[in-house]
Amino acid sequence: MTAWVGTVIDAVYVVAVLAFILGLKAMSSPETARRGIVYAGAAMLAAVVATFFSPGLSNFLLIAVGVIVGGGIGYYWARVVQMTAMPQMVAVFNGMGGGAAAAIAGVVLLSSLNNPADAGLSVAGAVIGSISIAGSVIAFLKLQGWMRQKPIVLPARQPVNLAILVVGVAFGVYSVVRVETIFLLPFFLLLLLYGILLTLPIGGADMPVVISMFNALTGIAVALDGFALVNGPLGDAGYAMVIAGVLVGAAGSLLTVLMARAMNRSISNVVFGAFGATEETGVTVQGTMKPIEVEDAAVLMAYANQVVIAPGYGMAVAQAQGKVRELSDLLEAKGVSVKFAIHPVAGRMPGHMNVLLAEAGISYDKLYDRDEINPEFANTDVVLVIGANDVVNPAARRAGSPLQGMPILDVDQAKNVLVIKRGQGKGFAGIENDLFYKDNCRMLYGDAQQVVAKLVQALKRSG
Ligand code: TAP
Repeated sequence: MTAWVGTVIDAVYVVAVLAFILGLKAMSSPETARRGIVYAGAAMLAAVVATFFSPGLSNFLLIAVGVIVGGGIGYYWARVVQMTAMPQMVAVFNGMGGGAAAAIAGVVLLSSLNNPADAGLSVAGAVIGSISIAGSVIAFLKLQGWMRQKPIVLPARQPVNLAILVVGVAFGVYSVVRVETIFLLPFFLLLLLYGILLTLPIGGADMPVVISMFNALTGIAVALDGFALVNGPLGDAGYAMVIAGVLVGAAGSLLTVLMARAMNRSISNVVFGAFGATEETGVTVQGTMKPIEVEDAAVLMAYANQVVIAPGYGMAVAQAQGKVRELSDLLEAKGVSVKFAIHPVAGRMPGHMNVLLAEAGISYDKLYDRDEINPEFANTDVVLVIGANDVVNPAARRAGSPLQGMPILDVDQAKNVLVIKRGQGKGFAGIENDLFYKDNCRMLYGDAQQVVAKLVQALKRSG
């Protein structure tokens, strides 16, 4: 292979890395996010194609079959997936990354066990990658509803898990120090088991944070593998893996921290706290939940100066965003000012509400984040809460509540609050919502899409 081929491959990797960085930057705003995905996807394609020309690469047919089958499944799945099923798809795709990192580490361990530096890096990559794939599979099963979503808390789980981790890592270290392959299989099996046991006690709704954490871990595992490959025949591909892995690790870590912070919880509380396994006791909410007729709710909104819509997980489940857009347009046509209050952890994934509302064609300038909209509630005539619960729960202001300290949308300060939900269901945190019992609050029971459709009809009838 001539030298210029290597130079071209290096140049493609450099361009791909720059495109990854630009893509990540663009993904930080809903307006440029699509462009960001295209940049990052094109960069990945370019890096993969360049790797095919690397000197020393063999097994072309096998790799091509893998790329076509894997790419085909990924393409099909991404096209048909529902927005609400996105977290579990991300869990699987991320798990594949962790599995690939663990598999690469396994190959390096088998071929370069006598090189302590590469083998040591591969042990680290294998530890992180194995935990990531096993944990991601459990996350997928929980989110898909194929496994109990509530935390599965086994007795003495912390010391048992720690022991499994320590023994597993010790097998890996022993293999490197003694240049022995005999303990490599139990090494991988124990780490896979640790990934499963680590994830079982985490509740279904905490999974987005955990998936993001596994995503960060996968990036780190890939970077470690890349370091181990740098000295081998595919050295340049190793550099590309290091950079891509570091970017994924950094972005995933930041996202994990931001999500945990928006829930006012530490990452260790999310991962080790078995949140949701026990429910708040000893708190009785005063008052009753008072229903309102759709016609009356429509009149209330039609005569308001300002209506603020606070969407949550229920709007996503009901896929009500299209009807919400109709409602918003009708109200505006009647001269009502309509704003959307977006809580950073409403729904089940970062930006969930932004994406759904954008899909329905609601313009970004109508979306207000918590800090912007909270001062406005006291002067708002009607707040329409659509399938949101925890993010509007004033219990967050109560000492001892599981939500204590979580910054919420202060919708209870508005003159009138209308809440659309199907019944008495609690939010993800599993606690009562004081808001629903307040004097200024009225309930519109039913599926969010159907209730909003009825509100639209009632508004049209009212002329
Ligand atoms: P939740 O607290 O989960 O409440 C959703 C409400 O929607 C429920 O009370 C439910 O009541 C109602 N609902 C469900 N299906 C419905 C339907 N088809 N039509 C109408 N209503 C429906 O939602 P939220 O306020 O958006 O809060 C999100 C929670 O998830 C927070 O606790 C947050 O910390 C957590 N979380 C979020 C993220 C991210 S990144 N967004 C990540 C991890 C955890 P009914 O059953 O009575 O209908």
